[in-house]
Amino acid sequence: MLVSATEMLKKAKEGHYAVGQFNINNLEWTKAILQTAQELNSPVILGVSEGAGKYMCGFETVAAMVKAMDKSLGITVPVALHLDHGTYDGCYKCIKAGFTSIMFDGSHYAIEENIEKTKELVAVAHGMGMSIEAEVGSIGGEEDGVVGMGECADPAECKQIADLGVDMLAAGIGNIHGKYPANWAGLSFETLDAIQQKTGVMPLVLHGGTGIPADMIKKAIDLGVSKINVNTECQLAFQEATRKYVEAGKDLEGKGFDPRKLLAPGVEAIKATVKEKMELFGCVGKAN
Ligand code: 13P
Repeated sequence: MLVSATEMLKKAKEGHYAVGQFNINNLEWTKAILQTAQELNSPVILGVSEGAGKYMCGFETVAAMVKAMDKSLGITVPVALHLDHGTYDGCYKCIKAGFTSIMFDGSHYAIEENIEKTKELVAVAHGMGMSIEAEVGSIGGEEDGVVGMGECADPAECKQIADLGVDMLAAGIGNIHGKYPANWAGLSFETLDAIQQKTGVMPLVLHGGTGIPADMIKKAIDLGVSKINVNTECQLAFQEATRKYVEAGKDLEGKGFDPRKLLAPGVEAIKATVKEKMELFGCVGKAN
């Protein structure tokens, strides 16, 4: 059931668990994530970066695919179709394409401009019944060409953006997109705690969910994180399973070259990763 992310995140914040955002790249990814959410009776957010949207022939194609798949798979759990790290123009494209949620990443602008643009998009998104995420401070590393230096957010700026009426707030707390380097300093819980105290009931978003140890994830949820984004980990799981299939020569046996067979181990690996994360985030059984 396609919905905005507002209700599911409000419930997550009140219930002290987090909803997973899993980024999609194609039909296999989308199906694997939707089926796992349904099986586990969990709410879920499908994240679409601007690069992945382009790869899938544009946001209209993505919205049409997700809507049709949601219907034909008989998905009853709440599903939000969400733009990940959207530009100002990208947000308007997704509003038009029929997404149910957007992220406007204005973190690279001066705070005044981030506020101005976020404010405008909050009004437009809410007018369409959509939810909106904003960002303060930046997420380190690179995702689909979006590069961040990873500076921690200023709690006072977080409050200014939260007060604009966004539905969820991403704040840099030392998190990084992609794999964490061996010398990573870990999440800044001091920053997270200060942001949570300033922003109160606002559901906070933890980007860069790949490779964050379970104890840190749990502590982040305790300190007010209600949405956790995972992208790279599903890609790595898919790649590893596909590599094993090919290295074992299975693509050369019988009709092992059939794409439905060739991609099946990777799809199962995505499902296993999504299940593991949903269990860790505490959102299993929270669909109703
Ligand atoms: P990872 O690729 O590190 O899991 O980050 C995902 C993310 O934050 C999407 O915005």
